[in-house]
Amino acid sequence: MKPWETLERAEVPDVGEVTLARRGDEYVFRVRGQTLMSSRQHGSEEALAEAGCEGLAGRSGVRVLVGGLGFGYTTRAVLDRLGPDARVTVAELLPVVVTWNRGLLAPLAGAPLEDPRVTVVELDVGKHMARQSGTYDAILLDVDNGPTALTHPDNHGLYGRVGLAHAVQALRPGGVLGVWSAGPSPAFERRMEQAGFTVQVLHPAAHGTKGTRHTLFMGKRRPQGRR
Ligand SMILES: C[S@@+](CC[C@H](N)C(=O)[O-])C[C@H]1O[C@@H](n2cnc3c(N)ncnc32)[C@H](O)[C@@H]1O
Repeated sequence: MKPWETLERAEVPDVGEVTLARRGDEYVFRVRGQTLMSSRQHGSEEALAEAGCEGLAGRSGVRVLVGGLGFGYTTRAVLDRLGPDARVTVAELLPVVVTWNRGLLAPLAGAPLEDPRVTVVELDVGKHMARQSGTYDAILLDVDNGPTALTHPDNHGLYGRVGLAHAVQALRPGGVLGVWSAGPSPAFERRMEQAGFTVQVLHPAAHGTKGTRHTLFMGKRRPQGRR
């Protein structure tokens, strides 16, 4: 088997070493040596977009927040489902990831950042949500391995009560919060319900139709005060 070739390496304050490596046509993004994303598997990243954009396709003025960027598969799948007047904000914590997506990673997902409907915000998506009020029809979060398996310890807050309250605040009434996870988390599902979402849990295949499955928590924002 061919060895991994490290293409890019960066030291990010408060995060540590991040690397981009390639073996043949596969790319891997690692944070402190732990794989956060591989280009070999992106079925569930696209399924997140599909489930989150259900019902938005024919509507005008749609606004979607994607956090984070990764290799751009979720962002591409969102763009492919929305009309020409949609606006998609991508919040990405690591500026180096944005640089890679504007360069050598751009072809992987059809250069989503070149789409004029996209605005990139180089910021923690939690901080971005905290500054919004009734802005988005859908918020799609794939920033880590899930509520219980963190690569960035600071992401803990996103999956807690405060993070979920910020998501509720950032959504338009009836808006949808989708959260990607490597596996199930009944405790997180309960927290979403308590925060004001009606939750559906999906288990799309990581790649193709067989093998590993990931978990998507899809929450529809209930009208305030309803259980
Ligand atoms: C698993 S990747 C996302 C994969 C993406 N769904 C795709 O389709 O390629 C996670 C991304 O989230 C970013 N990230 C991690 N924590 C974040 C945060 N708090 N806010 C914004 N982006 C974050 C990481 O730098 C990385 O680019």
